[in-house]
Amino acid sequence: MIREFKTSDFENIYELGELLHSNYRKLYNLDSIINEEYNHLFIYEDNEKILGFIHITKLYETIDIVDIVVDSGARHRGIGSNLLDYVISEYDDVKLITLEVNVSNKVAIAFYQKFGFEVVSIRKNYYNTDDAYLMKRGA
Ligand SMILES: CC(C)(COP(=O)(O)OP(=O)(O)OC[C@H]1O[C@@H](n2cnc3c(N)ncnc32)[C@H](O)[C@@H]1OP(=O)(O)O)[C@@H](O)C(=O)NCCC(=O)NCCS
Repeated sequence: MIREFKTSDFENIYELGELLHSNYRKLYNLDSIINEEYNHLFIYEDNEKILGFIHITKLYETIDIVDIVVDSGARHRGIGSNLLDYVISEYDDVKLITLEVNVSNKVAIAFYQKFGFEVVSIRKNYYNTDDAYLMKRGA
């Protein structure tokens, strides 16, 4: 099941977020995100266990994927695709989806390419010393 997050999910989200950014708790204050109308965070839950989430910002007809994370033991089983499909169908007025991804994150790049994302440019040293691809889907 995919649903909007709520305050009782915070700890699970922080733990999943730390799989992606070790300083996730400092980077993202879920207390404020939950009240911001342009931020949306959806979780994938199975048997009351949170196995993944997608965090987006939506401004007018553009979505930016801030983070998408699936629990390490539940990857490559379609959960990430379910989360992204959910966002795409939930916001069908959206014309453009953008994101940044570490150039070394081959799995995530393959994941986004499967959804038709293409590389637009490189952002140098976006993740400390690592570069990021800016990717987009749509126009
Ligand atoms: C990227 C991520 C969210 C994908 O979620 P997922 O549930 O594992 O992905 P899915 O099972 O829906 O896979 C969809 C497609 O992604 C690609 N993919 C997923 N896992 C892959 C792997 N281990 N190797 C290569 N391609 C892979 C494939 O194209 C796959 O399609 P296929 O099933 O036909 O092979 C997940 O790997 C993850 O949480 N990674 C760590 C966090 C991260 O890097 N997030 C992105 C930050 S920008």
